[in-house]
Amino acid sequence: MSLLSVAQAAQALADGGLVALPTETVYGLAARADDDRAVAKIFATKGRPADHPLIVHVADAAAAQAFAADWPALAQRLTAAFWPGPLTVIVPRRAGVAEGAAGGHATIGLRCPSHPGFAAVLTEAQRLGVPGLAAPSANRFGRVSPTTAQHVLDEFGGAVPVLDGGACDVGIESTIVDCSRGHPVLLRPGTLSAAALAAAAGEALRAPDAQAPKAAGTLAAHYAPHARLRLFSPAGLAQALAEAAARAPAGLAVYSRARWAHAAWRWVAMADDPGLTARQLFATLRRLDDEGVREIWVEAPPGDDPRWAGVLDRLQRAAAAHPS
Ligand code: TXA
Ligand code: MG
Repeated sequence: MSLLSVAQAAQALADGGLVALPTETVYGLAARADDDRAVAKIFATKGRPADHPLIVHVADAAAAQAFAADWPALAQRLTAAFWPGPLTVIVPRRAGVAEGAAGGHATIGLRCPSHPGFAAVLTEAQRLGVPGLAAPSANRFGRVSPTTAQHVLDEFGGAVPVLDGGACDVGIESTIVDCSRGHPVLLRPGTLSAAALAAAAGEALRAPDAQAPKAAGTLAAHYAPHARLRLFSPAGLAQALAEAAARAPAGLAVYSRARWAHAAWRWVAMADDPGLTARQLFATLRRLDDEGVREIWVEAPPGDDPRWAGVLDRLQRAAAAHPS
């Protein structure tokens, strides 16, 4: 069995190995950030292109600054408000540090997670001389992020040891804010509210422009289950299901806030609360895959309600993986 204790995880990481660790967002596939050979194992295991930068996880803002060439006041304000927690800041990278983790980029993504299991490993690993842990989500490139230890074991066939920290509380990946170019730019929405981010930053967050750093999680197609996911407006879903009820297509599941229970498909209720839906989203997609579902028809959450931005973003990218 490949479940580790905190001490075993910290030692394996200090020795240059890979360990999957729980965070409050999703499970991460961790390696010491100061060892390019250890970091290379992450890219190989995930099948991720080597120029797609990883987030480096640190114990606090002081540890973060060891990776930064410059610690902008904006990064200080945001991290003071949200660390430890589901926020990643992009700042200029200190030359010669974590080159591999940063995929060669001049900037670096830094995050201090709040999960007590991850924090305990970081503290213990720091004692062994590890300054921070590079960790992307512990899934194969482009696929659904894991939110339980079992998901990680399923994903890598037990080849990667895991610290079991239970089911992730937040459920979708951290909010990423670029702080490297003066004004805050939202590179990836998560569960932090636009209002709270703007209050901490001192200004509203901007949308990415052509010069903004590219993030793998912002590729059009990402976070995809094996089943084909299709997003519908509430009215569009009603119409599609009226036709499906007559045809009874094999392997159809419906994931919606409206109650669409029917013998012709498997219905899964989407929670009315966006935070609860975020927590359940990836586990729901994985469960439907495990059940052999071939299509998942999803009722799109309201696009004009910023509380749903993170969930809507993941659903849109999952839908883009199997275009119609
Ligand atoms: O919640 C999370 O952020 C999880 C947990 C494990 O911490 N991690 C995560 O990592 O989602 P990953 O690798 O799946 O996504 C990291 C995203 C990618 O889209 C990557 O391109 C972007 O962060 N990123 C990392 N460093 C960057 C940089 N220097 N500039 C722009 N984007 C960066
Ligand atoms: Mg990922």
